[in-house]
Amino acid sequence: MGILYDEKDRVFHLQAGDTSYAMQVHRDGYLAHLYWGKRLKKINARELLEIRFRVSFSPNPNPEDRVLTLETLPQEYPSYGRSDFRTPAYAIQLENGTTVTDLRYSSHKIMKGKPKLDGLPATYVENDSEAETLEVELFDALIGLKVILSYTVFEKFDVITRSVRFVNEGNTVLKLHRALSMSVDLNSKDYDFMHLHGSWARERHIERKPLFTGNQSIESRRGASSHFHNPFIVLVSKDAGEEHGEVYGFSLVYSGSFLAQAEVSQYRTTRVSMGINPFDFSWLLSQGESFQTPEVVMVHSSQGIGQMSRTYHKLYRTRLCRGEFRDKVRPVLVNNWEGTYFDFNADKLEAIAKAGSELGIELFVLDDGWFGKRNNDESSLGDWVVNKSKLPNGLEDLVSRINKLNLKFGLWFEPEMVSPDSDMYRAHPDWCLHVPDRTRSEARRQLILDLSRDDVCDYIINAVSSILASAPISYVKWDMNRNMSEIGSECLPSERQRETAHRYMLGLYRVLEKITSNFPHVLFESCSGGGGRFDPGMLYFMPQTWTSDDTDAVERLAIQYGTSMVYPASTMGAHVSAVPNHQVGRNTSLKMRGDVAMSGNFGYELDLTKFSEEEKKEVKEQVARYKELRGIVQQGDMYRLLSPFEGNETAWMFVSEDKSEAFAAYFRVLAVPDPAIRKLVLKGLDPNKEYKVKGRDCTFGGDELMYAGLTIPHLHGDYQSVVWRLKSVAE
Ligand code: DGJ
Repeated sequence: MGILYDEKDRVFHLQAGDTSYAMQVHRDGYLAHLYWGKRLKKINARELLEIRFRVSFSPNPNPEDRVLTLETLPQEYPSYGRSDFRTPAYAIQLENGTTVTDLRYSSHKIMKGKPKLDGLPATYVENDSEAETLEVELFDALIGLKVILSYTVFEKFDVITRSVRFVNEGNTVLKLHRALSMSVDLNSKDYDFMHLHGSWARERHIERKPLFTGNQSIESRRGASSHFHNPFIVLVSKDAGEEHGEVYGFSLVYSGSFLAQAEVSQYRTTRVSMGINPFDFSWLLSQGESFQTPEVVMVHSSQGIGQMSRTYHKLYRTRLCRGEFRDKVRPVLVNNWEGTYFDFNADKLEAIAKAGSELGIELFVLDDGWFGKRNNDESSLGDWVVNKSKLPNGLEDLVSRINKLNLKFGLWFEPEMVSPDSDMYRAHPDWCLHVPDRTRSEARRQLILDLSRDDVCDYIINAVSSILASAPISYVKWDMNRNMSEIGSECLPSERQRETAHRYMLGLYRVLEKITSNFPHVLFESCSGGGGRFDPGMLYFMPQTWTSDDTDAVERLAIQYGTSMVYPASTMGAHVSAVPNHQVGRNTSLKMRGDVAMSGNFGYELDLTKFSEEEKKEVKEQVARYKELRGIVQQGDMYRLLSPFEGNETAWMFVSEDKSEAFAAYFRVLAVPDPAIRKLVLKGLDPNKEYKVKGRDCTFGGDELMYAGLTIPHLHGDYQSVVWRLKSVAE
């Protein structure tokens, strides 16, 4: 690892794991991009960036240099208006109304470690020796604009993180219209564009399409990272698969509206950029003020998509997630939502918890409906006081009844919201996002609190903290069930209204930082109508996320497979629910539901008292099995074997870091009248180790399992699954 600077050629060479990234202070001080890819021993700047020809129809910012045009110069942080017609990384309006700026290199510094980002979540180091950071300062002398580009390389990961800080050192007010976190110009267009898309109950499906000439983008305008698109894109070489090919991943550590795009230019190069969505965004930068963008985590893999995912998994599991639960195995839980919805009382909850305790479950989670007068989704958000008609003896009494059953207790909140039918709204109708004189669009009969306001954030901190302090609560499910409309704040002046959505995110992050650090022993799980805010920004505060409201085993194959592109299994809440499934009406076997959920953070979401004795026996066995293998699932390396997006079968496996243990799972959705012998070719094992497969009376070489494969037993019927537990035997 290291950041090298060649003073003569003014070249920066960043080495991160097996990756090199290089740039040069080019002619006239423009910061040019040279290379990003497999690690190089040295950078030959003259070979990598040689501009020899005049380009017709492309202006020259320096009239004396008729060869240099920014239109063909690969750049690190391109601007608009000085000869580059491609998409700029930033856009600023000056007091005189014009929008032309001109950033040139002014200085740089290289330091050990990785500084924190002001007010924003980001990857981190525990020790300065784990990373090095380069800050390149660009300056526009005419207006006194300083832009600091930050790059961090990690010792142990093929990762480069980037972010940008704008500082107004001039004596006029600047208006940022666009402030992306990164931009990079790749020297080719021969890639496929991959991303994750979906909707409520169908999150993070994979789409892969060849790049076309022009702009292709994904985005969220919803004030949340969203079900529709995830803040993550990948460019892959045409031949790239799970284990081979060139892959460039981009993941934004942010939970609000974002933009990610790839633009193929007329010269067949590709500009990739990512950051806060410029749509309906602007930010006033007065003299002396600064603006910090979120971080983009960029991963290069020359060994396919699987390797990229494993890099993200490990980095996010160990250097994005924080707190006591980061390295701990997570408890097996039962959540009452699909079991009771709003229809419960203390006795009913206790009965579910008792059944759970007998089956080995460790945590009981009380979901929506425990507060105010909430008997459906029409009221009470904001009134965080116990609903005495359901829990007459209060929360403390319920928690103690659950604890006596040897289960920990968890509680649901939706703190960012307010119901118009609530005491809170009646007292503070101006505390929600809204614009003057227009009706407020409701979704699920609720409005969004204005977290750009400090007083509203403080209210949330106090309301949630006082409940958490009132009883031994071990887990919180932090939900958020609608997207933003009428985005405006009563407290901001007209020229700052378009700052509201980003200020909301800064307020939310402040709230989350305060509450999670004040309650370090509580395990927090985020949620947004399932996986509507499954992003790295939330994972910084809460190490797990409810993956989707869709608990159907078949739908979950695609959702969990897609999610695993960037997020590790330890972050994915995965529960067994009742059949017919509440979201799609499908009947799958308890075995398959269990096997799918075991590839994440395992739990149940149904009324356990309704199980027959036979089902209880099976559940008890599932819970015991998961406890044995959760260390591998939650902390091991994941290998995807068969994709649900390519056919009827899905398979994946998890391998412990030392390759001594593994867990493989195979799923077949519909029955196939095909008696042929099918083999599942495993990955990630040690070819020189001998493995015992549980339930089989012989051992297998790691090489045999990875090259010849393991026979899939004959399966009969729809919705089938097979799992294998492997352990290496002493040589
Ligand atoms: C949406 C969540 O995704 C569900 O799991 C559940 O908590 C409901 N909200 C409760 O209203």
